[in-house]
Amino acid sequence: MTTPSSKPTPRRGIADTLAQVAGGAVEQRLLKEIRAGPVPRHLAIIMDGNRRYAESHGLEREQGHLRGKDKLEELLDWCLEVGLRTLTVYALSTENFHRERAEVEELMRLFEENFRRIGDDPRVHQHQIRVRALGNRALLPPPVVRAIEYAEMRTQGYDQYRYNIALAYGGREDILQAIRTIATEVKEGKLKPEEIDDRVVSSRLYTQDLPDPDLIFRTSGEERISNFLLWQSAYAELYFCDVLWPGLRKLDFLRAIHAYQLRRRRYGT
Ligand code: IPE
Ligand code: IPE
Ligand code: MG
Repeated sequence: MTTPSSKPTPRRGIADTLAQVAGGAVEQRLLKEIRAGPVPRHLAIIMDGNRRYAESHGLEREQGHLRGKDKLEELLDWCLEVGLRTLTVYALSTENFHRERAEVEELMRLFEENFRRIGDDPRVHQHQIRVRALGNRALLPPPVVRAIEYAEMRTQGYDQYRYNIALAYGGREDILQAIRTIATEVKEGKLKPEEIDDRVVSSRLYTQDLPDPDLIFRTSGEERISNFLLWQSAYAELYFCDVLWPGLRKLDFLRAIHAYQLRRRRYGT
């Protein structure tokens, strides 16, 4: 917070300024190239590394999660800038509930605040972004569920962009709940076993009508899927970057999209 007594910010050295200008130029060039090519129809992000970021910056764990939430707000601008239509971010896995109680409570407070904020975000209304939470809501406390419902209700009529937040989400749980739904439909005679195909399964997953992700991007240097979109990622391109989520720069994001554009997708052919 700036107060009259706070110290003036030290003047940036010329080397810093030059580096910033050069970084900006690289960003602009990448952005131009990206806009000339196909962007992923659906980008999915595993936002990992909040606690390591906090530790390496001498911050409390909660501050790491808070900065991670701030980064997600920035990300929305970047996605709009490159013309991405569908974004899914992994905010909390079913396994993350096994973390210590105080951390889970911190996260729940952040989610509640964040869904309310998203529901009121002018960008969401200006660009007609439909917001949805993917995951098992029975695992979430009622104030978080109400905040989710608020954001979903305020954006339910929109169809220009899709913004999905996976929380209390697990790829296996997603598949299990789809199996249960299908089994019930078969039992009730609404579906025949021989009618169960890719399309039937996909439409019973939390992602329902969304296209499969074209690119899954994970920060923090870990190269694993950690139970994210297991069925949906069958032919997704994977991109891993060493930066911890709260420290992600626009340039890192643009590099991921650019790397995707250079990939040759074969789908087994
Ligand atoms: C990602 O950061 C956020 C959640 C999983 C909730 P982490 O909390 O996993 O932070 P690291 O990976 O331990 O640094
Ligand atoms: C994956 O990160 C889940 C989210 C980013 C929400 P984790 O930190 O939970 O995954 P692992 O434990 O490193 O596999
Ligand atoms: Mg992690």
